[in-house]
Amino acid sequence: MASKTDADFGRRESDWLPFLATWVRHPIKMGAVAPSSRSYCGMMVKHATTELDGPILELGPGLGVVTRTLLEQGVAPERITSIEYDADFARKLKRRFPKVDVIQGDGFNLDKTLGSRAGEKFAAILFAIPIVSFPQEKRQKLFVDYFKRLRPGGNLTQLSYMLTPPVRSVPGVFTVSSSPRVWNNVPPARVWIYSQDGVGKSDAASATEADVSEAHPS
Ligand SMILES: C[S@@+](CC[C@H](N)C(=O)[O-])C[C@H]1O[C@@H](n2cnc3c(N)ncnc32)[C@H](O)[C@@H]1O
Repeated sequence: MASKTDADFGRRESDWLPFLATWVRHPIKMGAVAPSSRSYCGMMVKHATTELDGPILELGPGLGVVTRTLLEQGVAPERITSIEYDADFARKLKRRFPKVDVIQGDGFNLDKTLGSRAGEKFAAILFAIPIVSFPQEKRQKLFVDYFKRLRPGGNLTQLSYMLTPPVRSVPGVFTVSSSPRVWNNVPPARVWIYSQDGVGKSDAASATEADVSEAHPS
């Protein structure tokens, strides 16, 4: 069960209802019935390479729980670009985070969505768009494209409820590891961490170890 802090985090802006309502209309695009918990967002941001210099790209921000955590952890709003497909969500995000560059568009087509900024290299990509309906080969191709947009040492962190890596490693491009599972999230989830092949944050469990090192609610 979610702690009081987690519940407050989700309820603060009455986000659960619009989130659930959008899920009812577009379950595949939304991929989740509720915004991520505070614990989960903390895990996501902890594993993202935000300590590197440069802009940060957030794909699928929803109503901004991860965005808010980035800001709370000291990331300057001007560094963040958040791409959200849902027009209502994007409007709300723009109001909520006026200094963040919120773009309403498709996170799968960054050349078009980023426009004149398409050549930019990011310090980190935080990814929360549902992709499990795609074949594995398409997921890998997509992530190879994202890795071309990362600065040296930058990683991609992915929200996922899956027990195995949603995107398999691509030798020479990226490897995958996992955070412990966060139980106080609806549903429990983990952060999949994709690192440039040969580079990785040291405190992440390897993908095969993921199930033995879980984060239990306190
Ligand atoms: C699982 S929710 C995650 C929301 C938020 N990051 C969180 O953790 O609570 C997925 C979000 O991705 C958005 N989305 C779906 N397809 C997208 C696309 N192609 N480009 C950008 N955003 C997309 C959905 O509208 C939704 O807000």
